[in-house]
Amino acid sequence: MSVAVRINQLTVILLSVHLIPTNPVAEQRSLGKSRKRVNPVLHTDVPAPDPIRDTHQYCNYPNLTEHGWEGHSPADYRLLSVQVMIRHGDRFPLYSIPKTKKPAIDCVLSDKRKPSHHLLASFISHMALGGRGQWDASLGSLPRLPNHSTCEIGELTQTGVVQHLKNGDHLRQAYIKRHNLLTADWSPGQLWVETTGKSRTLQSGLAFLFGFLPRFDWSRLTVRQQWSTLFCGSSCNCPARNRYLEQEQRRQYRQRTADTELERTYVAMAKTLGVATKILRAANPVDALLCHFCHGLPFPCSSAQTTLNAPDEGACLTLQHFTVIRRQQKDDELERREAGLYRRYAVLAAHPYLNRTAMRLERIARGSQTRKGTEEAVFALASGHDVTMAPLLSALGLERAGFPKFAARLVFELWNGPEAKDKERKSDRKRGKWLENMFIRVLYNGEDLTFDTAFCRDHNRHSAQPLCPLGNFLSFVRKDMFNIVNATSYQQACHQIVL
Ligand SMILES: *[C@@H]1O[C@H](CO)[C@@H](O)[C@H](O)[C@H]1NC(C)=O
Ligand SMILES: *[C@@H]1O[C@H](CO)[C@@H](O)[C@H](O)[C@H]1NC(C)=O
Ligand SMILES: *[C@@H]1O[C@H](CO)[C@@H](O)[C@H](O)[C@H]1NC(C)=O
Ligand SMILES: *[C@@H]1O[C@H](CO)[C@@H](O)[C@H](O)[C@H]1NC(C)=O
Repeated sequence: MSVAVRINQLTVILLSVHLIPTNPVAEQRSLGKSRKRVNPVLHTDVPAPDPIRDTHQYCNYPNLTEHGWEGHSPADYRLLSVQVMIRHGDRFPLYSIPKTKKPAIDCVLSDKRKPSHHLLASFISHMALGGRGQWDASLGSLPRLPNHSTCEIGELTQTGVVQHLKNGDHLRQAYIKRHNLLTADWSPGQLWVETTGKSRTLQSGLAFLFGFLPRFDWSRLTVRQQWSTLFCGSSCNCPARNRYLEQEQRRQYRQRTADTELERTYVAMAKTLGVATKILRAANPVDALLCHFCHGLPFPCSSAQTTLNAPDEGACLTLQHFTVIRRQQKDDELERREAGLYRRYAVLAAHPYLNRTAMRLERIARGSQTRKGTEEAVFALASGHDVTMAPLLSALGLERAGFPKFAARLVFELWNGPEAKDKERKSDRKRGKWLENMFIRVLYNGEDLTFDTAFCRDHNRHSAQPLCPLGNFLSFVRKDMFNIVNATSYQQACHQIVL
């Protein structure tokens, strides 16, 4: 392997003939494409911000082919484990805009309706057998499929289901077909699935899993519930985290109220609908407008009869209104990064999940050195929310990846480097050198961001190692990530006084 490999992302892509492609046809296409758009999110020269183009990405239309660099490595590396965090797919709004009709979206799944997927019909029938699975806590009583002819608040849509069938199917090509990560007779201990207690995250996780392991055996599946959207398990108590969040929220409030264009826009929208500005703002109109936008539906119009402000008949919200709100959200993201308060919150919010991920990867890495192996989850899936994903990205130093789109996926891969000769190997193992041959990759929506992470940004790119050492990740999670809050452990960081 050439020493130039690590110079930058582009070099890796140009040299990817040395890598193992997920799918040779897709490889050809993405090679050609990648030269032009090496990394649309992070690496191109920043063009003038375009809130509408950005919103199209957020929607994550399922009619586009899924590409990704998952499962790519130098040829003689062995894949040991994959840990995935997803955000749920497209959903119905959580808020409604006063005096308007809700978007008309059908949440009953049908393979006759677009967007569809070749696995959709079998997914629907497979979910009917879900009683055979093991369900933690309250999960057993949640619907395993969206099924309302008018979507309910926050309900996963067919688009959301298809997005995750696609994600799962894509990773099945990358990990099962190519690397045999799980064999047909996988044991229950090899798979870990956890979700928050919302139907949209449960259903997203199941759609992903069905794409990944079509017609999986229900009797081998246990689905665990996380009570917190932070997936912090039994380590949720962290007073300093809440202080940092409050500081960030005050910054956000100041930023928003200083934006006079935004304020004017809210006033204009409220007038259009004939409601008080305060009430409109509290209804978080961008949430519902995003749904109209992503589903190609016209923006809502006033359904008021007579009102104090007597709006014009048929007065409607417009793309201009929407663009201003989205522009302000992008500005806020930028300022958030610069202010650094969110990052402090994020480090504490993301630690418990990262810590469990690190622990699992280390055990699997260690177990692979003994012939016995281990009963760790070689594949783990966590199904969460934007408020789960955003702190993870920030804590890893990947804030520039932007706000998590629907059905976003964050992937950690564990790789074992080429084995030394058997004799050397035994003595290396004795000296605890096995860790030096273990590597991690981090991918977000298929992009390899390993060398953008806080723990591998400074990895010597000219080193003979083409991948990032697992040890970097382990020491980052256990200690280094707390540097920015002047602490050396989670306990210390959580319980220090924040002014
Ligand atoms: C995918 O769907 C979106 C929204 O419906 C549409 O704007 C876009 O043109 C479609 N793209 C392709 C490649 O079909
Ligand atoms: C959806 O709900 C209807 C009743 O509202 C029911 O008859 C049907 O079986 C449900 N479908 C699924 C797949 O659960
Ligand atoms: C992090 O993981 C280690 C095991 O690797 C465990 O001992 C420790 O309690 C965990 N800390 C937190 C805060 O979860
Ligand atoms: C960490 O310490 C430095 C130097 O004492 C200080 O400037 C900074 O504000 C501290 N950061 C936090 C998050 O407390």
